[in-house]
Amino acid sequence: MMVGNKWYQSVWFSNNEVCLIDQTKLPFKFEIFKARNYVDVVKAIKTMIVRGASAIGVTAAYGIAQAFIQGNLEEAKEKIANARPTARDLRHAVEHMINFIQKRIEENGKVTKEEVIKEAESFANTTVENCKRIGKFGKRLIKDNTKIMTHCNAGWLASVDWGTVTSSIYMAKREGKDVFVYVSETRPRLQGARLTAWELYNENIKHAIICDNASAYFMHDVDIIIVGADRIARNGDIANKIGTLDKAILAKEYGVPFYVASSTNSFDFNCRTGKEIPIEQRSEEEVKFIDKKLIANKDSKALNPAFDVTPRKYIKGIITEFGIVKPSEMKDLVRRVRKMKKKLER
Ligand code: MRU
Repeated sequence: MMVGNKWYQSVWFSNNEVCLIDQTKLPFKFEIFKARNYVDVVKAIKTMIVRGASAIGVTAAYGIAQAFIQGNLEEAKEKIANARPTARDLRHAVEHMINFIQKRIEENGKVTKEEVIKEAESFANTTVENCKRIGKFGKRLIKDNTKIMTHCNAGWLASVDWGTVTSSIYMAKREGKDVFVYVSETRPRLQGARLTAWELYNENIKHAIICDNASAYFMHDVDIIIVGADRIARNGDIANKIGTLDKAILAKEYGVPFYVASSTNSFDFNCRTGKEIPIEQRSEEEVKFIDKKLIANKDSKALNPAFDVTPRKYIKGIITEFGIVKPSEMKDLVRRVRKMKKKLER
């Protein structure tokens, strides 16, 4: 997407470095973080220099390519895959790259560094293509004069380009539809206030930042809620940024359709229900400090789950690269995705 008059993606690979727009600095500074090795890659994911399920997946794919080139793949792969526990995309990307490398070695006796980089690039391109496809399906849900509510950042920063949630919004806007977005601030890391608002502002999309606890106040004015996902269980339960569940429950009470926009890379076939999704617990400091300033009683304990699980009963549809599916149709989609992935593996 455009930043000023220059086109950027949030993650790319150049001169054997994994390059990332530093999301901890936005919207105040636009800086590029260059990961020189897998230790930097792990650090960038853990500290959220790069964040968002799809973007950390692509970072991991490039991180694996870099570790392969630097000859430390064995020690790097589990450390990259475990850098954050909830987003399925991270492990999916590592498995994808490792399978590719092994398959090439089995078939040809070797794999070159150019082939590995090319595969990571193709993984990144597919991520972007998926976002575009999600946008093409999702934009149909957005009529002229629609008021949308979203949470956290499932924008292009979180997905390399276009975004999972924002792609539908950007495409609807490009078709001339008037849209307005309620952006909830997303305590404690403020991805909504800092990142989604910045993206929407750059794209000239009308929006307002609201406190997380103002969702109920504005719900009567919302036409549709669209959020992203970090992991989707086989039954259609989804894990997304903490606070998503509150909005889903409110949406049901107010009769507002609640949609999830996500690529199938976030599907976890091994999780039967949302209860099996591991939820990242982050530090107390993120809650008690803002910009290194203590904002709470210093001796009080703080709890900081980074994600919550929204049960399928609250979800009207999941907007994927294959179309919009109801959680009750998940079985068919899972079958389709499994078949396609097997075909690709051959
Ligand atoms: O902790 P974060 O900022 O990585 O959480 C991100 C989200 O919850 C997004 O909604 C999700 O990853 C989807 S973005 C493709």
